[in-house]
This record gives sequence, structure tokens and C-alpha cells, in this order.
Amino acid sequence: MPKNKIIFACQVCGYQAPKWLGKCPDCGGWNTLVEERLSTTKIRGADIQKGKPIPILEIQSNEEDRILTHIGELDRVLGGGIVPGSVILIGGDPGIGKSTLLLQTLEGIRDNGKLLYVSGEESPNQIKLRGMRIGIRSNNLVILSETSLDSILETVDEIKPKVFVIDSIQTVFTSELPSAPGSIGQVRESAGRLMFYAKKTGIPIFLVGHVTKDGSIAGPRVLEHIVDTVLYFEGEKGHAFRILRAVKNRFGSTNEIGIFEMKDSGLSEVKNPSEIFLAERPFKVTGSVVVSSMEGTRPILVELQALVSSTNFGVPRRTTIGVDYNRVSLLLAILEKRVGMHLMGQDVFVNVVGGIKIDEPAVDLGIVTAVASSFREIPVDPKTFVFGEVGLAGEIRAINQVEARIKEGAKLGFKRVIIPINNAKKMSRVKDIEVIGVASVDETLEILFR
Ligand code: TYD
Ligand code: MG
Repeated sequence: MPKNKIIFACQVCGYQAPKWLGKCPDCGGWNTLVEERLSTTKIRGADIQKGKPIPILEIQSNEEDRILTHIGELDRVLGGGIVPGSVILIGGDPGIGKSTLLLQTLEGIRDNGKLLYVSGEESPNQIKLRGMRIGIRSNNLVILSETSLDSILETVDEIKPKVFVIDSIQTVFTSELPSAPGSIGQVRESAGRLMFYAKKTGIPIFLVGHVTKDGSIAGPRVLEHIVDTVLYFEGEKGHAFRILRAVKNRFGSTNEIGIFEMKDSGLSEVKNPSEIFLAERPFKVTGSVVVSSMEGTRPILVELQALVSSTNFGVPRRTTIGVDYNRVSLLLAILEKRVGMHLMGQDVFVNVVGGIKIDEPAVDLGIVTAVASSFREIPVDPKTFVFGEVGLAGEIRAINQVEARIKEGAKLGFKRVIIPINNAKKMSRVKDIEVIGVASVDETLEILFR
């Protein structure tokens, strides 16, 4: 009997077949069969130690063992640095800057010990060129151009790096499966073995994963379940800003984002995002308002813009960039019904400046304000910013982390802020900024446009 038998298993119902089939005979799903290795060697014994229950209070936690990349934005998204033995997947569109980010990450790690960058996509020469662009000076950084997982792990065994990167997981293959690199079976098998390796040796691994057109990391999401941390690197085409978002993190919060700017000399951290997002704000223009959005533990002020213009054709258009389309439709209906604003004959466009996406109810009040400002053709006072959730009755609902948001505004020179009444009631006075609590959309518009 061969040591490694290959089978095809349905990912939906678990049906197994010796050959690939387009349709699962059991559950009827199309294209659900994936190649898997059926290990017939005994895994009992030497490899696996019998687990012993330990009282939780006696387990030694080692929070201080985290390896810092000294890239503040990345360390924060990771939850305070890299946890030894963890596997971190970085996904994103081609050309977004994943390879650049990881090269800079390795450069940032100042621990003694080798750092290994394995590339299956680029030659050492190409990596060197990029390295020169971003000013790599580390003596510890070694490059390996290799795609065979077995050879990669052999090299890793030899040089025992502190951290290593595989760029990308889709180029890696294991000879135990006959299928081509990049197939689901290969990606999953390789990631599984790397995960096992990381846990066994305590060496943290970064994996680069390409995103397929439907937005999932290729190897349809299989990787997300296996690895410890999944980070997405995203950005709008034509903008220099890049956002690193944690989608899953076993060792930290998934609310944190890191903001970077792609420059000629690589990625640079954006430590004061509000200032940058507000830098080009036009003054005394209708349809523009500043809102506060919490991104993890950090408040960010961004400019929201709306343009309302009369419809030329029957059905009015609604277009949104950076905010949820359905949310905007709902808020427009509230303006129509509760405030009596006739938007049925109007096209409405809403845009978040800077190419970032916000999905927090606190921006509701900003959307409503921007649309009303454009519709009534009255600009919002540029020293005022707003935030609050809007309910279907047109009421303004309380939100969280109000003080942090207001302080960020005060720091940037705002003189007035409009917030939900229930938040305002519980607030103590804040220096340098006037806080106004509002109960309804009507009241907000009355204060802003009277
Ligand atoms: P890259 O890291 O190769 O992206 P990925 O690995 O996600 O495919 O980044 C490629 C893009 O970044 C490329 O379009 C050029 C740009 N870039 C800069 O603008 N400045 C730089 O210093 C570097 C290294 C890249
Ligand atoms: Mg790359």
C-alpha cells in the first residue's frame, strides 16, 4: 500500500471518491471535491504527546515574548507584536504592497537571529531591487527563491530564522499531492503543514495570499480557518493610502486597522490619519461634513461628501463610495419621511474622502447632514463635526467611546460637536469645544442650518 494515498473529498458533505468529480454524487454540490492526502502511516506514538490537563492559573503566559516589528501600525493590528509560533496570513489584491510590507516588516525586527524571506514569485535580484528602494540595511535578512515546501522547511531547519515569510502560499507545493501549486488541495496541505511546523518550533510565519475576484483569499477561505491571524491589505485604486485590517486574530482585537501610505521609498506609517484625511477639505462648500469614526481603539475624523442633484431620467440614482449603500438608502428614506425633504426626484452621491471605508452607525448623522447640506445648499460650519446613529423614527441614538472622539476633534481645532443627547447628558465639560446634544434629525438640521 502506498504511504500517501490521494483521495478527493467533498468539502460540503465529506463524501470521498478516488477520482475527481465535477458533481458530488452524495450532496449534489458542484465543484466541491478537493484533493486530500490520506495518511496511512501511523501518527500515534512518537509524534504526538499525550495531553495533560493543567489548571488555568498555573499556565505560564508569555505576553512579553511577542516579537516587535517596530512598525507601530502593524504591531498594533497584530495585537502588540508577533506571537511566537503563530501563522499570519496577509491577503490583498496584486500590487497593493504585500511584498513591500513584509520586506519592511523583516527589516523592522531588530532581534538577533536570521530572518528568512522565501519568494516563489520573484528572483532574489528583483527582491534586492525592491530592498534598495526601501533602504534595507539588515545583515540578518536572507532571501530564498524556492517553491517546494520540503526544501523550504529543510532550509528553515538549517538556519533557524527568528521569523520567516512565504510569498506567496499559492506558489508553494508539496510533492505529496500530484496537483499543481495554487490548487485548493495544495494550498491547504501546505498551510496545514506550515501551521504544524510553526507550533512545533515556535517560529512565527507570515504567509502572503492572493485574493480572488470574489474577494476571498484564494484556496476559497480554507486558509482562514487554518491560520491564527488573517490580515487584509486594502486600498482604493489611485489612492496612496493602504489599510491593514485584521479579519481574524487569535491574539488580538479584530477592530484595529493600520494605515499606511505608499511612497517612492516604500510604505510609511500614517500616525495622524485624521489630519491627512482632512488636509484637502474645501471650506464653505455645501455637502461636506466631518464625522468621527472609531477604528479599533483609535478615533479617526474623515470628511463625508454628498452631492444631491435633480434626476434627468425617471429613477433617481444613488451612488455610495466608502459607506454602505443600503444604509444610505435607509437614511434618505428617513430624511424624506421624517424631515419632509423631497429626495425622490434627486440623484444622491455620497463619498468618503481618502478612499477609506467606514461601516459604523456613528456616521449616520454625518450622511444625513451632508445630504441635507447639499440639498438645501447651505454649507456646514467648517469648525463643527458630528456623529451619532440615526433610528428609523428620525431619533438620534447614543453610541460608544464618545470622549475619545471629541478629544480627537478638539485636538484638530474643531470648536463645536453635535452628538446624541443621551451621550451629552453623561458627559462632563470638555475644554475648548462646545458639545451639543441632539435628540432628532430635525433638531440637528435646525441647529446646523438655522
Ligand atoms: P508589491 O509589494 O510588489 O505588491 P504585492 O506584493 O501586493 O503584489 O507592491 C507593488 C506596488 O507598489 C507597485 O505598483 C509599485 C509600488 N511601490 C511603490 O510605489 N513604492 C515602493 O517603494 C515600492 C517598493 C513599491
Ligand atoms: Mg508580491
